[in-house]
Amino acid sequence: MKPDIIVANPFHPDHMAALAEAFTPHLMSEARDQTAFLAALADKARGICTSVAPITAQMIAALPRLEIIAAMTVGVDHIDLAAARARSIAVTNAPDVLTDDVADLGMVLLLCVARRIVAADRYLREGHWREAQFPLANKVGGATLGILGLGRIGLAVARRAEAFGMRIVYHARGRRLDVSYPFYDNLVAMARAVDYLMVNCPGGAATRHLVNAEVIDALGKDGALINIARGSVVDEPALVKALLEGRLGGAGLDVFAEEPKVPEALFALDNVVLTPHVASGTRATRLAMGRLMVDNLLAHFSGRQLLSRCA
Ligand code: 8YV
Repeated sequence: MKPDIIVANPFHPDHMAALAEAFTPHLMSEARDQTAFLAALADKARGICTSVAPITAQMIAALPRLEIIAAMTVGVDHIDLAAARARSIAVTNAPDVLTDDVADLGMVLLLCVARRIVAADRYLREGHWREAQFPLANKVGGATLGILGLGRIGLAVARRAEAFGMRIVYHARGRRLDVSYPFYDNLVAMARAVDYLMVNCPGGAATRHLVNAEVIDALGKDGALINIARGSVVDEPALVKALLEGRLGGAGLDVFAEEPKVPEALFALDNVVLTPHVASGTRATRLAMGRLMVDNLLAHFSGRQLLSRCA
């Protein structure tokens, strides 16, 4: 008999087909009453897969036979890991396959903010080029990039930024012994020393509002913040206030505190580039992320070692 699994949100048709081949899937997003849906599956659901749908302690408690939670994301801050750990439920994520794309988007945002690409495009389309030259922008080569969180994605950003002639420094929970980039144990001190600060650390309680008003002020009116990690890492109201008051030079943001809500005050600012959480959003990468999620479920239910267990 195929194991019953809960599909917390719909996936690409290829992944839905792969899930249906090996499992009996139950689509949670179609349920009108989530509590009743979970209660009906309490004595049979052994797995859950999710992309962005939160997996709460309450859901986990409602499923006594749950063995595995497989995420299609690298970040798992939407899953209650403590509740999963307490019951020895395996949690898998989707690292590595998205690293290049996310790092690419980090550099895209940095370059767009520095060279004011979005404003320049608008300037041309609105016919201003005939009237005057577009104002000068900021040089990337020779500038200093401070990376907050030097994990797989942070490191991939560092390699790219090096190729653009940037100087790299970083702040993380601890110093990495395998890199020679200067390490700051104090984020405010690093923000004061850099031209660009890029957020690359995981979301969740441990990193909530690490980038606060003090860090933003240390970055200052000649600095810019790039966030490709999680909106929760930045104190968003403080960021918006600093941008509106001209205390921060610019921002490139792919993630926000309450997605898909974005502070509308930012829409009027030319020194801000906004994207709707698309860092991993290429066809090839999203297919690879979904495949990895499915493969983790297949490995678990056939007794093989999990490919990317994160808790
Ligand atoms: C999401 C992400 O997968 O993997 C992560 O942690 O933030 C993204 O790549 C994507 O936004 C899901 O829609």
